[in-house]
Amino acid sequence: MTKRFAVIGSPVKHSLSPTLFGFLFAESGTDATYIAHEVAPEALSDCIAAMRKGEWDGLSVTVPHKLAVRPLVDEEDSLVIRIGAANTLARRGDRIAAYNTDAAGCARALAHGGATLQGANVVILGAGGAARSAVFAALDGGAKSIRIVNRTADKAQALAQAAGDARCAALDATSLQGVLNDSDILIQSTTVGMSAPDSSPLAADIVLPRRLTVHDMVYRPLETALLARAAAQGCRVIDGLWMLVFQALKQFEYWTGVRASDETALALHAHLRGAAT
Ligand code: ATR
Repeated sequence: MTKRFAVIGSPVKHSLSPTLFGFLFAESGTDATYIAHEVAPEALSDCIAAMRKGEWDGLSVTVPHKLAVRPLVDEEDSLVIRIGAANTLARRGDRIAAYNTDAAGCARALAHGGATLQGANVVILGAGGAARSAVFAALDGGAKSIRIVNRTADKAQALAQAAGDARCAALDATSLQGVLNDSDILIQSTTVGMSAPDSSPLAADIVLPRRLTVHDMVYRPLETALLARAAAQGCRVIDGLWMLVFQALKQFEYWTGVRASDETALALHAHLRGAAT
């Protein structure tokens, strides 16, 4: 029987997920459909009840439901509890399991791009939901240190504390250059660059050392001002579509039990490039 999947959110019509999963299901010969399903906050519990009755086999969950969905499910993966948000639901009979694939997506995007988290000094720009997944990806990947810099310093402090690990600390923006000089990986998780493509989350006088791998989670535009600058300064760069691709492949794995190959990830990235730019 054809399986039914969707991304739920509000607004959801600009989501790349239907394009992404449409390609993935076709490429893998999976008998399934995937649509963008607009769900207002007040309709969320009815949506999950319908899923429990069989309307959906799996759902991707996006803004504003990633936190609100948690009390409505039957089981939570440990990363959902640690990150505090769910982005994937899978129906197991009449039970619903929640997962978070963002940390795995971030980790595999870094690995695929040639960066090694084990033993790395990592700097994370931002302290929102995306930053949280980067923090746990870095912790679980064996990073040596994780420094969080954010426009609102209190939020960086709160995230470092919530991570509950001595390797993790907030960083004052004035110390950023010194820390970057001794870092291996920079993960950009703020929304800067999305609405104003020329804007950069880094001050103009910051120099990115060549040894740094720079991963920007923003994928619209694909080459952000930060990635262009990093590439010009000789750094290895990893664009935000890789994280989107790999977190989706983890969702696919939870739904089908199949781990997609790096070749599939490459094909998916190439397919999405056109849609994202
Ligand atoms: P997401 O779930 O995508 O992480 P979020 O939780 O709203 O989104 O977090 C957005 C992040 O981008 C925050 O770290 C935010 O900084 P603040 O905590 O100071 O709000 C950061 N951000 C958004 N606009 C910014 C800007 N113009 N300059 C610097 N940081 C910005």
